[in-house]
Amino acid sequence: MSNEELFSAAVKAAEKSYSNYSHFTVGAALLTTDGKLFTGCNIENASYSLTICAERTAVFKAVSEGYTDFAAIAVAGSGNGDFSKACYPCGACLQVLSEFCSDEFKVILADGEYRLSAFLPNRFNEESMK
Ligand code: THU
Repeated sequence: MSNEELFSAAVKAAEKSYSNYSHFTVGAALLTTDGKLFTGCNIENASYSLTICAERTAVFKAVSEGYTDFAAIAVAGSGNGDFSKACYPCGACLQVLSEFCSDEFKVILADGEYRLSAFLPNRFNEESMK
């Protein structure tokens, strides 16, 4: 799947965004190493801190279905229907992604392709506790 196709899947996933409070819609499209696609959207709550981001929705959907090997994620966010500005993943989502993904894992945004290591050069992980 091309970066453009993955990004389009993220934009489509944002249609399901439940963002009554921020009115900022986010979609994520997560590709497994064996080519399966999991999408997610942000889901807000009247108790604001219970909101979950699109990226974590996609990761948790995939892991709960038994998929833990990922190649790439596309993220699309917008407050006005224009998804051309990059929506950078938040720190909480980066930490969750880092549990399953290598430094080379691809992050596809509106402004291009990044590697996970660009956002999280040093991680707290299992190794940190040894
Ligand atoms: N949001 C995401 O879904 N992903 C991000 O990477 C950044 C922020 C959501 C959370 C909240 O519903 C809204 O965007 C505004 O913060």
